[in-house]
Amino acid sequence: MLEVSSCMKVSHFSLRMFASLLVVTLGLCYCRTDSNQTFLGIPQLFGPSEALLGEIVVFKCVMPNHPKNESVLLQLYNKDNDKRLGESTSLSGEAGTFTLLIKLSHEGNLECLARAQNNSHTMPTVSRTHHLRVVEGVKEAQIFVGSGQVELSEDENLELLCEITAGNHVSYKWQQNGQPISPSPSLHLSDNSLFISRTTSENIGYYTCMATNYYNQTVFSTSTSPDVEITVEDVVSAPDISFTVLKEDSYNYSAVVTCESTIGTLPVTFSLYNRTELVANVTSDNRRAIFKLPLVLDQYSGELQCNADNGAQVAHSQWVPLEVVSVGGPVTMHYDSDIGENFAVIGLRLYCKVAKGSHPRYQWFLNKTLLHDKGSFYYVVDQPPEQSILLLSVGRSSAGTYHCQVSDSFDNTTAISSWEQYLDKEVLNRPPVYVVAVVFGCFTALILLVSVCCIGVVYNRGLEMERRVVAYEGELDLREYGEDAGVVRSARGGEFDQTSEASADEWP
Ligand SMILES: *[C@@H]1O[C@H](CO)[C@@H](O)[C@H](O)[C@H]1NC(C)=O
Ligand SMILES: *[C@@H]1O[C@H](CO)[C@@H](O)[C@H](O)[C@H]1NC(C)=O
Ligand SMILES: *[C@@H]1O[C@H](CO)[C@@H](O)[C@H](O)[C@H]1NC(C)=O
Ligand SMILES: *[C@@H]1O[C@H](CO)[C@@H](O)[C@H](O)[C@H]1NC(C)=O
Ligand SMILES: *[C@@H]1O[C@H](CO)[C@@H](O)[C@H](O)[C@H]1NC(C)=O
Ligand SMILES: *[C@@H]1O[C@H](CO)[C@@H](O)[C@H](O)[C@H]1NC(C)=O
Ligand SMILES: *[C@@H]1O[C@H](CO)[C@@H](O)[C@H](O)[C@H]1NC(C)=O
Ligand SMILES: *[C@@H]1O[C@H](CO)[C@@H](O)[C@H](O)[C@H]1NC(C)=O
Repeated sequence: MLEVSSCMKVSHFSLRMFASLLVVTLGLCYCRTDSNQTFLGIPQLFGPSEALLGEIVVFKCVMPNHPKNESVLLQLYNKDNDKRLGESTSLSGEAGTFTLLIKLSHEGNLECLARAQNNSHTMPTVSRTHHLRVVEGVKEAQIFVGSGQVELSEDENLELLCEITAGNHVSYKWQQNGQPISPSPSLHLSDNSLFISRTTSENIGYYTCMATNYYNQTVFSTSTSPDVEITVEDVVSAPDISFTVLKEDSYNYSAVVTCESTIGTLPVTFSLYNRTELVANVTSDNRRAIFKLPLVLDQYSGELQCNADNGAQVAHSQWVPLEVVSVGGPVTMHYDSDIGENFAVIGLRLYCKVAKGSHPRYQWFLNKTLLHDKGSFYYVVDQPPEQSILLLSVGRSSAGTYHCQVSDSFDNTTAISSWEQYLDKEVLNRPPVYVVAVVFGCFTALILLVSVCCIGVVYNRGLEMERRVVAYEGELDLREYGEDAGVVRSARGGEFDQTSEASADEWP
């Protein structure tokens, strides 16, 4: 040991002194030959990397540099738990063999240790580690419910554990009603557990787990657990309430009230209330109930509310006023337009509105032909009850006379029409009368202004000449008057520019 380190020091020293690889090599050679220590080569360990529990497996430890006439003791260790798995003596270079009946404790990083038996001067050497994986078949998978409770209420947590009585290197798969389960934000899978936070009715079903392990890259063993049934009581959601009107005959109308919850464990009992009493109740198997009440048009008949009850919770809808106003005129139509390149109108939005009516149905007509929801050049956007919008792309096929018609959605005999409007490219791109008027007005104003300016300039010139004449006659300073006249002229010029700019702005 000491000699080795001193030798290393020498080689290091020579490296530093001469910085020459040659010298280092020589030094090392010198050291090795000089030492009376024999050098055991590094042993090599051979064997399988995977083995089955209970299998008989042979590992071999080979000494490439076996010292002559010296017996070498070879030992097989599991480095992970420091357990000695076998021992063998090699005298003349034969490999050491270790026959193992595989146990779970054999799994780990194995190594072979070589030691010269009767020579304490020789350093023991160790092979590189060799990893052994021991596989044990899976047995009897079974599901345990974390809380012990298989009947849950909505929003409770659910934890399932897949337990096995035997097996290792196991991967777990879960199924709900025979369908594989994959993780989601509320469903967490890890190792042998399945965790669901805030359960809903979607989590109801039969759960199984499957434990599998692999050997030699193929499935070695599998065990599927028996079913576990999980139920979740969903609280019922607040119902939506709405109603439509039904014309029974020419005098009698009914309100058809629909109450509907989106979620909730069935069955659900719906009750319809007005402000004073229970109007009707019914138990539903599809989270929806329909009630029919007599209705008088254009008369306020109080307010209605739905209650939904499924045992877990009672939920209430909003109050809705039960009032149906039949449509009444006038029906108005107006439009605005989209301007494309070249300032041409390329698109139109026609709006149709009715003065009153809670359940209006809007219809659009071109040349008295009904336009359906959409066509090659148009699109109807209904925004009941306020209005309906007809979107048009302006072209040859869109030319014609438009009007809209509004009736009660429950009674098409009440139709009221708007006025008719002829629209085509030429009509739309013709400048409107007020634009023409404004343009003409501006033009006239401009001409007037120009005329006034011209007259002013002419008048000024006349004045100036008069003054010059006076200056000559009265021997006054000519320059003063000349400058003054220039100031007046430039002021006039500025005024003129401003007005012409202003009128130019007014042009569209
Ligand atoms: C090896 O050992 C044998 C007997 O064990 C002996 O006869 C022989 O001389 C030895 N050889 C060397 C090189 O030591
Ligand atoms: C080595 O030592 C063992 C006992 O420790 C002895 O039986 C054997 O003869 C010795 N062999 C040599 C070559 O010295
Ligand atoms: C591992 O599988 C391959 C083929 O997939 C086969 O050739 C080989 O013999 C198997 N080894 C063992 C140890 O079963
Ligand atoms: C309205 O309906 C009731 C029954 O729903 C019927 O008795 C009555 O005759 C109807 N009224 C008219 C005017 O048809
Ligand atoms: C409404 O529910 C009550 C119990 O809450 C029941 O006694 C009654 O018969 C129900 N009425 C109808 C019309 O279903
Ligand atoms: C509630 O309904 C009952 C019968 O359906 C009716 O007699 C009562 O006037 C209604 N109350 C209100 C406030 O509408
Ligand atoms: C509608 O009628 C006008 C004539 O009034 C006609 O020019 C136009 O092509 C017609 N449009 C359609 C779509 O029939
Ligand atoms: C009005 O509605 C009834 C039934 O919905 C239908 O048979 C009839 O053709 C409709 N009349 C018009 C003018 O749309």
